[in-house]
Amino acid sequence: MQRKAILRVFDSLAWIEDQLDELQSIDQKRTLEIRESPHVGGQIQFNGKQLVDFGSNDYLGLSANVKLVDAIKTQAGFVGWGAGASPLISGRGTLHTRLENELAEFKNADSAMLFPTGYAANVGVITSLAGDGDVIFSDEKNHASIIDGCRLSKAKICVFRHNDVDHLSSLISESARFRRKLIVTDALFSMDGDIARLPQLVDIAKSNHAMLMIDEAHSTGVFGANGRGVAEHFDLESEIDVTVGTFSKALGSHGGFVVGSQKLIDWLANSARSYIFSTACPDASCMATVAAIEIIRDTPDMGTRLLKKADGFRDRLREMGFNVGTSVSQIIPIIIGDNKSTMEMKEKLLNAGYFVPAIRPPAVPLGESMLRISLNAMHSEEMIEEFLAALPGL
Ligand SMILES: Cc1ncc(COP(=O)(O)O)c(C=O)c1O
Repeated sequence: MQRKAILRVFDSLAWIEDQLDELQSIDQKRTLEIRESPHVGGQIQFNGKQLVDFGSNDYLGLSANVKLVDAIKTQAGFVGWGAGASPLISGRGTLHTRLENELAEFKNADSAMLFPTGYAANVGVITSLAGDGDVIFSDEKNHASIIDGCRLSKAKICVFRHNDVDHLSSLISESARFRRKLIVTDALFSMDGDIARLPQLVDIAKSNHAMLMIDEAHSTGVFGANGRGVAEHFDLESEIDVTVGTFSKALGSHGGFVVGSQKLIDWLANSARSYIFSTACPDASCMATVAAIEIIRDTPDMGTRLLKKADGFRDRLREMGFNVGTSVSQIIPIIIGDNKSTMEMKEKLLNAGYFVPAIRPPAVPLGESMLRISLNAMHSEEMIEEFLAALPGL
């Protein structure tokens, strides 16, 4: 009886309320929203309200495409839904291998491996390539999944200033004592919308005997004449040791991947814990991704057209005096600075019928809060014009 009373008085999770209050006081508390519609036609529904959607990574508008949906319906009828086991046990079926082969061919690579998510791919690959006694050079604006992979690896982490190849060169020149060296970067940076300086990174990796790993999460399907990514854009695909990505953005599907040499994939199958110890993705979902790859293969200029549209949009925002930073892509930040003004602007846009996510720390450094506009293939010129006309009055 007495023990029960003590247990009731002491709330071991009380500290959480303090933490949440603190986040609230600096306008950094997140709340969970409910999307009430699929992403269709550049629109989305929240709280019963239809909004123009500038907040999804469904850059080519494929997430509700009938070919992807039909692939799921048809295949689930044959193979069921869950994969039932991790890939090394019995989870990797014929549809997984079909997607691996299609992906390797699409990405111009020897071999491919599927991961549950892009997050899991980064964590699994980085921890397989580097460990105690090794050193990783990581761009300061890399995605959280790269950062977490670096931290888990137990390697020494050297963070270089964003896209600053001179800083990287100077750090790497002092790394002779380490066993292996890994340079890792987002190919297209997810918040700033700029791209990595791959030609220089390839040179630095080669002259320092370092491995080069890039994350094409946001660029696959958008950059390059065939939508293969930033490496294709620079004609450097054969120079990249390891490419990670996800099907969850421009391909409108789900799951992460890595492409590279056969020996890389063989090693990952023996070492990547997020691959080995996680259930394979549903078999049918592989065929939705295959359908997305086929669409991109059949209409390779979708990404180029989107980038052209983004160029015009960005120019107009600049002319209007907005700070769009260093963006060169479909990801266009409007950099505001403090959390409060960023949240106020987001609310005003919501009231005017536009969904534009507010990005605050820790996703961006303190003082660099922004509205992150993701332009997609479904946004009409009319939608863009109306948005630009609405902006100054907010
Ligand atoms: C650069 C980058 N890499 C990896 C990921 C993770 O991909 P996924 O959503 O498939 O876990 C993201 C997702 O936001 C990302 O922006």
